[in-house]
Amino acid sequence: MGFSVRWNWLATLLCLLCMGGEVWCDCTITNRMQIEGGSYTLTKQLQTGSLMIYHCDEGYHPYPDSFRLCQLNGSWKPAPRRSQRCRLVECPDPNVLEYGTVTPLQEKYFVHNLTTYECYSGYSMRGSDKRTCLPNGKWSGPTPICSRDTDDVCADPGIPAGAARIGNIFDVDDKVKYSCNGNLIMVGSSERVCQENGQWTGIEPACYYKYTYDSPLEVAEAFGSSIRNSLTTLQPTDDTQEGRIIRITKNGTLNIYIAVDVSESIEKDEFENARNAVLQLIRKIASFSVTPNYDIIFFSSEVQEVVNILDAFGGNVQQESSVTKLKDFQIGDRNAGTDLNLAFTTFLERMAIIKQRVGDEAFKEHRHVILMFTDGAYNMGGSPRYTVKNIKDMVYMNQAEGTNAQSREEYLDIYVFAIGNDIFDDDLIPLTTGSGGKHYFRLSDTKDLVKTFDEIIDESEVKGLCGLHKEYETENQRNRFPWWASIHIQTDSGPTKCLGSLVSPQFILTAAHCFPFGVTPEAITVEIGHSIVKGVRTLTLHPNYNVNGKADEGVKEFYDYDVALIQLKADVDISISVRPICIPCTQETSDALQLAGKSTCKQQEQLLLKNQKERLSFLTKQGNTVHEKSMHVKLGDNRDSCIRHALEADGITTTDPKVPVTDNFLCSGGVFPDRDHIACKGDSGGAVFKNYEHRTVQVALVSWGTKEKCTSGGVVESDESSRDFHINLFKVVPFLKSVLGQDQDYFTPLQFLED
Ligand SMILES: *[C@@H]1O[C@H](CO)[C@@H](O)[C@H](O)[C@H]1NC(C)=O
Ligand SMILES: *[C@@H]1O[C@H](CO)[C@@H](O)[C@H](O)[C@H]1NC(C)=O
Ligand SMILES: *[C@@H]1O[C@H](CO)[C@@H](O)[C@H](O)[C@H]1NC(C)=O
Repeated sequence: MGFSVRWNWLATLLCLLCMGGEVWCDCTITNRMQIEGGSYTLTKQLQTGSLMIYHCDEGYHPYPDSFRLCQLNGSWKPAPRRSQRCRLVECPDPNVLEYGTVTPLQEKYFVHNLTTYECYSGYSMRGSDKRTCLPNGKWSGPTPICSRDTDDVCADPGIPAGAARIGNIFDVDDKVKYSCNGNLIMVGSSERVCQENGQWTGIEPACYYKYTYDSPLEVAEAFGSSIRNSLTTLQPTDDTQEGRIIRITKNGTLNIYIAVDVSESIEKDEFENARNAVLQLIRKIASFSVTPNYDIIFFSSEVQEVVNILDAFGGNVQQESSVTKLKDFQIGDRNAGTDLNLAFTTFLERMAIIKQRVGDEAFKEHRHVILMFTDGAYNMGGSPRYTVKNIKDMVYMNQAEGTNAQSREEYLDIYVFAIGNDIFDDDLIPLTTGSGGKHYFRLSDTKDLVKTFDEIIDESEVKGLCGLHKEYETENQRNRFPWWASIHIQTDSGPTKCLGSLVSPQFILTAAHCFPFGVTPEAITVEIGHSIVKGVRTLTLHPNYNVNGKADEGVKEFYDYDVALIQLKADVDISISVRPICIPCTQETSDALQLAGKSTCKQQEQLLLKNQKERLSFLTKQGNTVHEKSMHVKLGDNRDSCIRHALEADGITTTDPKVPVTDNFLCSGGVFPDRDHIACKGDSGGAVFKNYEHRTVQVALVSWGTKEKCTSGGVVESDESSRDFHINLFKVVPFLKSVLGQDQDYFTPLQFLED
């Protein structure tokens, strides 16, 4: 918080006198403080320390002041001067284009004004030739640049609107320096150097007015591409894409330090939004199969500790506990003091302890990401610049080796998210650091921050992560069930349908009974997504599947080992809406379940089927829509009373339910503890699944049931005695492995656990 509330004895005394014994004087609102064309809010009514914050419609900003503070003696700071009003947002001057013209030529450019750019003959244009002034005070599109072919190694880096540049030679090691005109604030690199690879160091600077802010989309894109680099553990999908480097290997360690300013200059809504955004970020990061260590603090004049990173270096802290701790944390005293330096010092000290605990060699492999949410208005503890320098020294390890710091820049990222009404850009910008991408964000409104942070990590770019999905309702249902497949089979007695699940880019898992004897791959089509119909290369049924296997034991149709794998002619393209589900006993599933180190099949089973009545889901298709159904599989002591009802099914004459229902089946149905949903005819072969921290794991598949309660799909409830039986995938792992784990020409095998 930024307003130094110094005790002014004289003022207090005057106040004491004038108010006749009252210590605090309330502020009053004069006519002059009303805002024309806008409104204001007060954070603590008219009490000392209250902030009066002005609001204008989009495309306007409050002028001359954006807020005032009620001081101890009952006066406002800044004092009301001229009358307050809402002024049109302006964009910085675009007439800085070299070797070209800007039309129209105006002294000032206001929101929605359109400009057109043209290069002199002999020069060619990069960037946008048409730009609109946006309501956040920025021009749309990239900076237009007119340049001629030269032998220079780097391309002309251009001049952003509102800026001036020194430096006109663009060969290796040549520098360009930027400054912003007037009282505009520079965000980005003020100095850039041409490198041998033809790229400029740093990022293009931009000139901001005091009211310019980054839109949620801009934050999502810029921060997203930056943080993704820290998170990607797998090969990038597209090797040519620049900047996609694998920074954290499975044995590297990622430490994320988060601080949220809760001093009085930050409104409650703002830091609550920041808290929720951080929660969202942690959940999203968890879905990436990396398990960073977190340090989370709230701070004003003191630090309130939410999650201490050092716990992670003692025992193993579960991801969930960081989320729970942050969600439930009660923010204590908020006061007017802000000690930003203390927040950085806290992180520095913890880094030092980590370094001591793990040793210098191991510490070299640690990456550190600091996320700071503040307005930068510190009034205690001094400037954090020196502490940030110490953090850099520690991570860059220059003293230790004398190597150049450049090579270790990627091991430290400091992002600042500027929130609040009065942002101290000049103090905050120098604190950011990190290679590639923007690290400083000005947020006008934290309302959309959660969504922004959700969009930050774009799953479509991440291949190879099974079971990743959107948790909430989206327009496209496939984003929730991206693994879902529909199978059409031409048989002698007409067409039939089953459901299946994509378990790798080339394989669909389904039920064996969907394929009557004699069905060939040509008779099968698979639909994944709206219109993807893929040809089938092979169909493999479980070798032990034999529907007549127990005909002479009183089971007319026997469904043990009711599993089949369909191999497509080619890999499907993985995207947000088409992605494999996780299946038991693979390394990917262990990663999804966040089982660290060497894990076993048994551990997975214990996590996924741990309750006596385990709640699981499956899907049904009705018309063109897909619905999720839920049920409880009865395990342990509950199993016998569940499978007993198998004897009531048609075609079963044995008196032992264990004859038709072998140990390979899971049993669901009935009305206890809740009324289960029951499978319909077309649901066969579909996945029985469980969601675990943004990832979906298939534990079984729908096989058969005792009663036919529905033939056309849909969500239908069980009665007292109807039961469904599902093939437990943990029991058919050798089969899955024999097909999916095999090294062969057409596809990449899944990696199965050794035991
Ligand atoms: C109130 O206090 C502030 C600083 O605390 C001082 O600058 C201002 O002059 C005082 N106003 C009056 C009316 O005393
Ligand atoms: C620019 O915007 C201002 C304010 O909306 C408007 O008065 C002016 O006519 C616009 N200029 C042009 C060229 O569109
Ligand atoms: C990962 O571990 C292996 C073996 O312990 C080591 O050779 C390799 O350098 C490590 N890589 C990183 C990036 O830590």
